[in-house]
Amino acid sequence: MHIKELNLTNYRNYKNLRIEFDDKVNVIIGENAQGKTNLMEAIYLLAFTKSHRTSKEKELIRWDEDYAKIEGRVEKRIHSIPLEIVISGKGKKAKLNHLEQRRLSDYIGNLNVVMFAPEDLTLVKGPPNIRRRFIDMELGQIQPRYIYHLGQFQKVLKQRNHLLKQMQRDRSINRMMLQVLTDQLIEHASTILERRFAFLELLRKWAKPIHHGISHEVEELEIEYQSTIEVLEGASKEKIESSFQEKFHQSIEKEIERGTTLYGPHRDDILFYVNGKNVQTYGSQGQQRTTALSIKLAEIDLIYSEVGEYPILLLDDVLSELDDYRQSHLLNTIQGKVQTFVSTTSVDGIHHATLEKAEMFRVQNGMVTS
Ligand SMILES: Nc1ncnc2c1ncn2[C@@H]1O[C@H](COP(=O)(O)OP(=O)(O)OP(=O)(O)O)[C@@H](O)[C@H]1O
Ligand SMILES: [Mg+2]
Repeated sequence: MHIKELNLTNYRNYKNLRIEFDDKVNVIIGENAQGKTNLMEAIYLLAFTKSHRTSKEKELIRWDEDYAKIEGRVEKRIHSIPLEIVISGKGKKAKLNHLEQRRLSDYIGNLNVVMFAPEDLTLVKGPPNIRRRFIDMELGQIQPRYIYHLGQFQKVLKQRNHLLKQMQRDRSINRMMLQVLTDQLIEHASTILERRFAFLELLRKWAKPIHHGISHEVEELEIEYQSTIEVLEGASKEKIESSFQEKFHQSIEKEIERGTTLYGPHRDDILFYVNGKNVQTYGSQGQQRTTALSIKLAEIDLIYSEVGEYPILLLDDVLSELDDYRQSHLLNTIQGKVQTFVSTTSVDGIHHATLEKAEMFRVQNGMVTS
């Protein structure tokens, strides 16, 4: 799939932008603070309805304006889909085929995007919530139903935590309600775990050979799911459910004492190992970078295998940071089949035949010229 045109109105430092992209490689060149990341962010937002760098939607609206609009047309193999996001003081609207979609799961998944930015190193070395967010976003874009389960899980989790807090203060509260919420929580938690296991299996399948290649065939990548319950990766949903049942049964007093839910997908993590050693703890900067890059590149093939079309690749400020060998690896992977956006302050340090055929866009103070 690829984005053919993009229109921005009052988005960040863009007052009015109307732009047509090449379906292969688009290079966005500009000095610092001119709007390169803003442009990438707008494409990301069109896919996920969320920014990759802020959760405060107000920041996306151009200063002194009261709404921001992003419109894009996604060309797929057999059809083309208009997408639109409007953000205002009243909230956010997501339109698909000009019709507002009330449920995120009806909108997300129409445009698939893989982004690689300098802060993606935190995917490897940052706190667990970054890796949970990664798995949730990526799973969500290939399986919109997952977003529904995640939403339901979070709703029940909130209610359950609220009840546990009350019980912490008042021990005489009847436990019937807690049992009801626990059963509901287990239902969604088990579905989430089951799907995360399947996703990791795919990620592993694609990431391992890529990592092996980028590391000049000296490193073996392993990916492991770390759960708060004793369950083997790949276990059936029934097995996961019974593990949760057992865990919650054993820990009810502890949870009331702490006033919060101690087990579930909201506390899980993914661990990366290179040649048997945990990369988060022992990996060099280079190994962490290779791991993050392998994971991102793996997603391209993973999405293709699940969705049947290649996603759009956004490379914000990362190409010139990679050495020649990694650059070539990356650019060879995309070779003409993935619509790619590369942002950079200068083309120095970027060498590759792919870029010679690229369409160039110059960004200056929220204006783009090609
Ligand atoms: N809501 C907004 N309204 C107007 N301008 C904004 C808004 N949000 C951010 N900006 C401005 O957008 C400018 C460009 O930001 P952006 O992050 O896209 O830069 P960039 O070209 O990626 O720069 P760098 O090379 O440093 O990464 C900044 O100067 C910032 O002040
Ligand atoms: Mg930037």
